[in-house]
Amino acid sequence: MNVGLKTQILPAGEAAVAAAGRCLAEGGLVAFPTETVYGLGADATNADAIARLYQAKGRPSFNPLIAHVGDLMAGMRIARFDATAIALAEAFWPGPLTLVLPKTRDSAVADLATAGLDTVAIRVPAHPVARAILRAFGGPVVAPSANLSGHVSPTTAAHVQSDLMGRIDLIVDGGAVAVGVESTIVGCFDAPMLLRPGGVPRGEIERVLGRSLVQPPDDADNDTSQPLAREALLAFGPATVPGTDSATAVMNLSAHGDLNEAAANLFGYLRALDAKGARAIAVMPVPHHGLGEAINDRLRRAAMGRE
Ligand code: TXA
Ligand code: MG
Repeated sequence: MNVGLKTQILPAGEAAVAAAGRCLAEGGLVAFPTETVYGLGADATNADAIARLYQAKGRPSFNPLIAHVGDLMAGMRIARFDATAIALAEAFWPGPLTLVLPKTRDSAVADLATAGLDTVAIRVPAHPVARAILRAFGGPVVAPSANLSGHVSPTTAAHVQSDLMGRIDLIVDGGAVAVGVESTIVGCFDAPMLLRPGGVPRGEIERVLGRSLVQPPDDADNDTSQPLAREALLAFGPATVPGTDSATAVMNLSAHGDLNEAAANLFGYLRALDAKGARAIAVMPVPHHGLGEAINDRLRRAAMGRE
Protein backbone atom coordinates (compact mmCIF):
# COMPACT_ATOMS: atom_id res chain seq x y z
CA MET A 1 0.00 0.00 0.00
CA ASN A 2 1.11 3.54 -0.63
CA VAL A 3 -0.06 4.71 2.78
CA GLY A 4 2.73 6.55 4.59
CA LEU A 5 3.90 8.54 1.57
CA LYS A 6 5.01 12.05 2.27
CA THR A 7 2.35 14.21 0.61
CA GLN A 8 3.58 17.64 -0.41
CA ILE A 9 1.07 20.50 -0.65
CA LEU A 10 1.98 23.42 -2.91
CA PRO A 11 -0.01 26.55 -3.76
CA ALA A 12 -0.79 26.73 -7.49
CA GLY A 13 1.92 28.61 -9.39
CA GLU A 14 4.94 28.02 -11.59
CA ALA A 15 6.85 25.97 -9.03
CA ALA A 16 3.86 23.73 -8.31
CA VAL A 17 3.16 23.18 -12.00
CA ALA A 18 6.80 22.23 -12.66
CA ALA A 19 6.81 19.89 -9.65
CA ALA A 20 3.56 18.30 -10.84
CA GLY A 21 4.98 17.71 -14.33
CA ARG A 22 8.11 16.06 -12.88
CA CYS A 23 6.12 13.99 -10.43
CA LEU A 24 3.80 12.65 -13.16
CA ALA A 25 6.79 11.83 -15.38
CA GLU A 26 8.29 9.80 -12.51
CA GLY A 27 5.08 7.80 -12.12
CA GLY A 28 3.83 9.80 -9.14
CA LEU A 29 0.29 10.76 -8.11
CA VAL A 30 -0.70 14.44 -8.19
CA ALA A 31 -4.01 15.97 -7.09
CA PHE A 32 -4.87 19.17 -8.94
CA PRO A 33 -7.90 21.40 -9.51
CA THR A 34 -10.03 21.12 -12.63
CA GLU A 35 -13.05 23.37 -13.18
CA THR A 36 -15.39 20.54 -12.08
CA VAL A 37 -13.74 18.85 -9.08
CA TYR A 38 -10.18 18.08 -7.94
CA GLY A 39 -8.66 15.21 -9.92
CA LEU A 40 -6.01 12.68 -8.89
CA GLY A 41 -3.65 12.50 -11.84
CA ALA A 42 -1.27 9.83 -13.08
CA ASP A 43 0.58 9.26 -16.37
CA ALA A 44 -2.07 7.61 -18.57
CA THR A 45 0.60 5.50 -20.31
CA ASN A 46 2.20 4.15 -17.11
CA ALA A 47 0.42 1.03 -15.84
CA ASP A 48 2.40 0.98 -12.56
CA ALA A 49 1.39 4.54 -11.77
CA ILE A 50 -2.24 3.72 -12.59
CA ALA A 51 -2.16 0.66 -10.35
CA ARG A 52 -0.95 2.89 -7.50
CA LEU A 53 -3.71 5.38 -8.30
CA TYR A 54 -6.43 2.73 -7.96
CA GLN A 55 -4.82 1.63 -4.71
CA ALA A 56 -4.60 5.19 -3.32
CA LYS A 57 -8.31 5.71 -3.96
CA GLY A 58 -9.28 2.25 -2.79
CA ARG A 59 -11.19 2.06 -6.09
CA PRO A 60 -12.20 -1.22 -7.71
CA SER A 61 -9.91 -1.49 -10.72
CA PHE A 62 -12.70 -2.33 -13.16
CA ASN A 63 -13.87 1.28 -13.08
CA PRO A 64 -12.24 2.99 -16.09
CA LEU A 65 -10.62 6.42 -15.90
CA ILE A 66 -10.88 9.65 -17.91
CA ALA A 67 -7.78 10.64 -19.91
CA HIS A 68 -7.20 14.40 -19.71
CA VAL A 69 -5.44 16.04 -22.64
CA GLY A 70 -4.49 19.59 -23.60
CA ASP A 71 -6.47 19.87 -26.83
CA LEU A 72 -8.42 18.04 -29.52
CA MET A 73 -5.23 17.19 -31.46
CA ALA A 74 -3.81 15.39 -28.44
CA GLY A 75 -7.13 13.58 -28.05
CA MET A 76 -6.97 12.37 -31.65
CA ARG A 77 -3.73 10.54 -30.89
CA ILE A 78 -5.49 8.26 -28.42
CA ALA A 79 -9.05 7.94 -29.77
CA ARG A 80 -11.01 8.01 -33.03
CA PHE A 81 -13.27 11.05 -33.39
CA ASP A 82 -16.19 10.89 -35.80
CA ALA A 83 -18.03 14.01 -37.01
CA THR A 84 -20.32 14.02 -33.95
CA ALA A 85 -17.39 13.81 -31.55
CA ILE A 86 -15.57 16.63 -33.33
CA ALA A 87 -18.67 18.83 -33.22
CA LEU A 88 -19.02 18.25 -29.46
CA ALA A 89 -15.31 18.80 -28.84
CA GLU A 90 -15.34 22.05 -30.79
CA ALA A 91 -18.43 23.29 -28.96
CA PHE A 92 -17.45 22.38 -25.39
CA TRP A 93 -13.67 21.95 -25.06
CA PRO A 94 -11.97 23.07 -23.01
CA GLY A 95 -14.73 22.44 -20.50
CA PRO A 96 -16.72 19.97 -18.39
CA LEU A 97 -17.58 17.44 -21.12
CA THR A 98 -16.08 13.94 -21.42
CA LEU A 99 -16.42 11.92 -24.63
CA VAL A 100 -16.26 8.12 -24.71
CA LEU A 101 -14.71 7.09 -28.03
CA PRO A 102 -13.09 4.07 -29.69
CA LYS A 103 -9.39 3.82 -28.86
CA THR A 104 -6.96 4.22 -31.74
CA ARG A 105 -5.03 1.03 -32.51
CA ASP A 106 -1.77 2.49 -31.27
CA SER A 107 -3.35 4.44 -28.40
CA ALA A 108 -0.71 5.04 -25.71
CA VAL A 109 -3.27 4.90 -22.91
CA ALA A 110 -2.60 1.85 -20.72
CA ASP A 111 -5.17 -0.96 -20.79
CA LEU A 112 -5.40 -0.72 -17.01
CA ALA A 113 -6.72 2.86 -17.34
CA THR A 114 -9.56 1.78 -19.60
CA ALA A 115 -10.21 -1.45 -17.70
CA GLY A 116 -9.59 -3.43 -20.87
CA LEU A 117 -12.39 -1.68 -22.82
CA ASP A 118 -11.83 -0.79 -26.46
CA THR A 119 -13.15 2.70 -25.73
CA VAL A 120 -11.50 5.55 -23.84
CA ALA A 121 -13.03 8.53 -22.03
CA ILE A 122 -11.35 11.84 -22.92
CA ARG A 123 -11.69 15.38 -21.73
CA VAL A 124 -9.92 18.71 -22.17
CA PRO A 125 -10.25 20.57 -18.86
CA ALA A 126 -10.66 24.35 -18.76
CA HIS A 127 -9.04 25.11 -15.40
CA PRO A 128 -5.81 27.09 -15.96
CA VAL A 129 -3.89 25.03 -13.37
CA ALA A 130 -4.98 21.73 -14.96
CA ARG A 131 -4.04 23.07 -18.38
CA ALA A 132 -0.62 24.23 -17.19
CA ILE A 133 0.08 20.82 -15.63
CA LEU A 134 -0.95 19.01 -18.84
CA ARG A 135 1.41 21.29 -20.81
CA ALA A 136 4.27 20.75 -18.36
CA PHE A 137 3.84 16.97 -18.45
CA GLY A 138 3.21 16.77 -22.20
CA GLY A 139 1.08 13.61 -22.35
CA PRO A 140 -2.36 12.28 -21.39
CA VAL A 141 -3.13 12.25 -17.66
CA VAL A 142 -5.77 9.95 -16.20
CA ALA A 143 -7.57 11.61 -13.32
CA PRO A 144 -10.53 10.31 -11.33
CA SER A 145 -11.95 12.61 -8.70
CA ALA A 146 -9.38 12.94 -5.88
CA ASN A 147 -11.43 11.27 -3.13
CA LEU A 148 -11.39 7.87 -1.49
CA SER A 149 -13.75 5.51 -3.28
CA GLY A 150 -17.25 5.87 -1.82
CA HIS A 151 -16.67 9.46 -0.64
CA VAL A 152 -18.06 12.48 -2.49
CA SER A 153 -15.82 14.33 -4.93
CA PRO A 154 -13.51 17.05 -3.55
CA THR A 155 -14.07 20.67 -4.47
CA THR A 156 -11.24 22.10 -2.34
CA ALA A 157 -7.65 21.04 -1.59
CA ALA A 158 -8.70 20.55 2.05
CA HIS A 159 -11.16 17.84 0.96
CA VAL A 160 -8.36 16.11 -0.95
CA GLN A 161 -6.09 16.37 2.06
CA SER A 162 -8.64 14.79 4.39
CA ASP A 163 -9.06 11.76 2.09
CA LEU A 164 -5.63 11.22 0.54
CA MET A 165 -2.95 12.63 2.87
CA GLY A 166 -0.13 10.07 3.06
CA ARG A 167 -1.48 8.16 0.04
CA ILE A 168 -0.33 10.44 -2.83
CA ASP A 169 2.77 12.48 -3.69
CA LEU A 170 1.55 16.01 -4.29
CA ILE A 171 -1.52 18.23 -3.88
CA VAL A 172 -1.63 21.44 -5.93
CA ASP A 173 -3.92 23.87 -4.12
CA GLY A 174 -5.74 26.10 -6.60
CA GLY A 175 -8.60 27.12 -4.30
CA ALA A 176 -12.24 26.10 -4.57
CA VAL A 177 -13.39 24.89 -7.98
CA ALA A 178 -16.07 26.68 -10.02
CA VAL A 179 -18.50 24.03 -11.29
CA GLY A 180 -18.66 21.63 -8.35
CA VAL A 181 -20.04 18.55 -10.13
CA GLU A 182 -18.07 16.28 -12.45
CA SER A 183 -18.06 16.49 -16.22
CA THR A 184 -20.98 15.34 -18.35
CA ILE A 185 -20.07 12.04 -20.05
CA VAL A 186 -21.38 11.36 -23.56
CA GLY A 187 -20.82 8.02 -25.24
CA CYS A 188 -20.25 8.69 -28.94
CA PHE A 189 -21.96 5.50 -30.05
CA ASP A 190 -24.30 5.08 -33.08
CA ALA A 191 -26.79 7.11 -31.08
CA PRO A 192 -24.99 9.51 -28.69
CA MET A 193 -25.76 8.47 -25.11
CA LEU A 194 -25.78 10.49 -21.89
CA LEU A 195 -23.66 8.22 -19.65
CA ARG A 196 -23.46 10.73 -16.77
CA PRO A 197 -25.15 14.11 -16.41
CA GLY A 198 -22.67 16.76 -15.29
CA GLY A 199 -21.24 20.23 -15.76
CA VAL A 200 -22.60 20.77 -19.28
CA PRO A 201 -26.41 20.59 -19.20
CA ARG A 202 -28.02 18.01 -21.49
CA GLY A 203 -29.96 20.68 -23.39
CA GLU A 204 -26.78 22.47 -24.52
CA ILE A 205 -25.38 19.22 -25.91
CA GLU A 206 -28.64 18.32 -27.65
CA ARG A 207 -28.71 21.76 -29.25
CA VAL A 208 -25.29 21.11 -30.83
CA LEU A 209 -26.24 17.57 -31.88
CA GLY A 210 -29.63 18.59 -33.21
CA ARG A 211 -31.08 15.45 -31.58
CA SER A 212 -31.85 14.00 -28.17
CA LEU A 213 -29.24 12.11 -26.20
CA VAL A 214 -30.16 8.48 -25.63
CA GLN A 215 -30.58 7.44 -22.00
CA PRO A 216 -28.61 4.43 -20.70
CA PRO A 217 -30.76 1.64 -19.25
CA ASP A 218 -31.68 1.94 -15.52
CA ASP A 219 -32.91 5.23 -14.17
CA ALA A 220 -34.83 5.46 -10.93
CA ASP A 221 -36.14 8.74 -9.62
CA ASN A 222 -34.85 9.79 -6.22
CA ASP A 223 -37.57 10.29 -3.72
CA THR A 224 -37.58 13.05 -1.18
CA SER A 225 -38.57 12.69 2.43
CA GLN A 226 -39.31 15.12 5.19
CA PRO A 227 -36.64 15.67 7.82
CA LEU A 228 -37.16 13.87 11.10
CA ALA A 229 -35.33 14.03 14.36
CA ARG A 230 -31.64 13.07 13.98
CA GLU A 231 -31.77 13.77 10.27
CA ALA A 232 -30.01 16.64 8.56
CA LEU A 233 -31.68 18.67 5.81
CA LEU A 234 -30.08 19.73 2.59
CA ALA A 235 -32.38 22.53 1.44
CA PHE A 236 -32.76 24.25 -1.91
CA GLY A 237 -34.46 27.55 -2.64
CA PRO A 238 -36.39 29.98 -0.45
CA ALA A 239 -39.19 27.63 0.65
CA THR A 240 -39.13 25.75 3.97
CA VAL A 241 -40.45 22.23 4.52
CA PRO A 242 -42.34 20.83 7.52
CA GLY A 243 -40.04 19.37 10.15
CA THR A 244 -37.13 21.73 9.39
CA ASP A 245 -36.99 22.78 13.04
CA SER A 246 -36.36 19.24 14.25
CA ALA A 247 -33.53 18.55 11.79
CA THR A 248 -30.09 18.23 13.44
CA ALA A 249 -28.58 20.57 10.86
CA VAL A 250 -29.80 22.51 7.85
CA MET A 251 -27.73 23.77 4.93
CA ASN A 252 -29.21 25.49 1.88
CA LEU A 253 -27.54 24.73 -1.47
CA SER A 254 -28.84 28.03 -2.80
CA ALA A 255 -31.34 30.18 -0.95
CA HIS A 256 -32.13 31.99 -4.22
CA GLY A 257 -32.72 28.71 -6.04
CA ASP A 258 -29.68 29.16 -8.32
CA LEU A 259 -28.69 25.76 -9.75
CA ASN A 260 -25.10 26.78 -10.56
CA GLU A 261 -24.55 27.96 -6.99
CA ALA A 262 -26.15 24.73 -5.74
CA ALA A 263 -23.78 22.58 -7.82
CA ALA A 264 -20.76 24.46 -6.50
CA ASN A 265 -21.93 23.93 -2.90
CA LEU A 266 -23.14 20.33 -3.25
CA PHE A 267 -20.17 18.15 -2.31
CA GLY A 268 -18.85 20.51 0.37
CA TYR A 269 -22.27 20.62 2.06
CA LEU A 270 -22.68 16.84 1.90
CA ARG A 271 -19.31 16.51 3.64
CA ALA A 272 -20.22 19.12 6.23
CA LEU A 273 -23.57 17.47 7.05
CA ASP A 274 -21.91 14.06 7.17
CA ALA A 275 -19.39 15.45 9.68
CA LYS A 276 -22.24 16.52 11.96
CA GLY A 277 -23.06 12.85 12.50
CA ALA A 278 -26.64 12.94 11.20
CA ARG A 279 -28.30 9.53 10.85
CA ALA A 280 -29.41 10.48 7.33
CA ILE A 281 -29.59 13.52 5.10
CA ALA A 282 -33.01 14.51 3.75
CA VAL A 283 -32.95 16.45 0.51
CA MET A 284 -35.42 19.03 -0.74
CA PRO A 285 -36.46 18.64 -4.39
CA VAL A 286 -34.05 20.22 -6.85
CA PRO A 287 -35.48 21.14 -10.27
CA HIS A 288 -34.31 18.75 -12.97
CA HIS A 289 -33.22 21.30 -15.58
CA GLY A 290 -29.75 22.79 -16.26
CA LEU A 291 -27.22 21.55 -13.69
CA GLY A 292 -30.17 20.21 -11.66
CA GLU A 293 -29.98 16.91 -13.54
CA ALA A 294 -26.36 16.43 -12.43
CA ILE A 295 -27.17 17.46 -8.85
CA ASN A 296 -30.07 14.98 -8.64
CA ASP A 297 -27.87 12.25 -10.11
CA ARG A 298 -25.17 12.80 -7.45
CA LEU A 299 -27.77 12.89 -4.66
CA ARG A 300 -29.23 9.61 -5.90
CA ARG A 301 -25.77 8.01 -6.02
CA ALA A 302 -24.98 9.31 -2.53
CA ALA A 303 -28.27 7.80 -1.29
CA MET A 304 -27.29 4.46 -2.80
CA GLY A 305 -23.89 4.69 -1.10
CA ARG A 306 -21.82 4.30 -4.23
CA GLU A 307 -19.40 6.57 -6.00
O1 TXA B 1 -15.13 16.13 -13.95
C1 TXA B 1 -14.65 15.00 -14.05
O2 TXA B 1 -14.96 14.23 -14.97
C2 TXA B 1 -13.61 14.60 -13.01
C3 TXA B 1 -12.39 15.50 -13.20
C4 TXA B 1 -11.27 15.14 -12.28
O3 TXA B 1 -11.99 15.49 -14.52
N1 TXA B 1 -13.25 13.21 -13.14
C5 TXA B 1 -14.09 12.22 -12.78
O4 TXA B 1 -13.53 10.95 -12.92
O5 TXA B 1 -15.22 12.39 -12.39
P1 TXA B 1 -14.15 9.66 -12.21
O6 TXA B 1 -13.10 8.61 -12.42
O7 TXA B 1 -14.52 9.96 -10.81
O8 TXA B 1 -15.38 9.30 -13.09
C6 TXA B 1 -15.18 8.80 -14.40
C7 TXA B 1 -16.39 8.10 -14.92
C8 TXA B 1 -16.61 6.77 -14.24
O9 TXA B 1 -17.97 6.68 -13.85
C9 TXA B 1 -16.29 5.75 -15.32
O10 TXA B 1 -17.06 4.60 -15.21
C10 TXA B 1 -16.61 6.53 -16.59
O11 TXA B 1 -16.19 7.82 -16.30
N2 TXA B 1 -15.82 6.03 -17.73
C11 TXA B 1 -14.49 6.13 -17.92
N3 TXA B 1 -14.11 5.51 -19.05
C12 TXA B 1 -15.23 5.01 -19.61
C13 TXA B 1 -15.48 4.25 -20.80
N4 TXA B 1 -14.51 3.89 -21.63
N5 TXA B 1 -16.77 3.89 -21.05
C14 TXA B 1 -17.77 4.27 -20.20
N6 TXA B 1 -17.58 4.99 -19.07
C15 TXA B 1 -16.33 5.34 -18.77
MG1 MG C 1 -15.50 10.13 -8.84
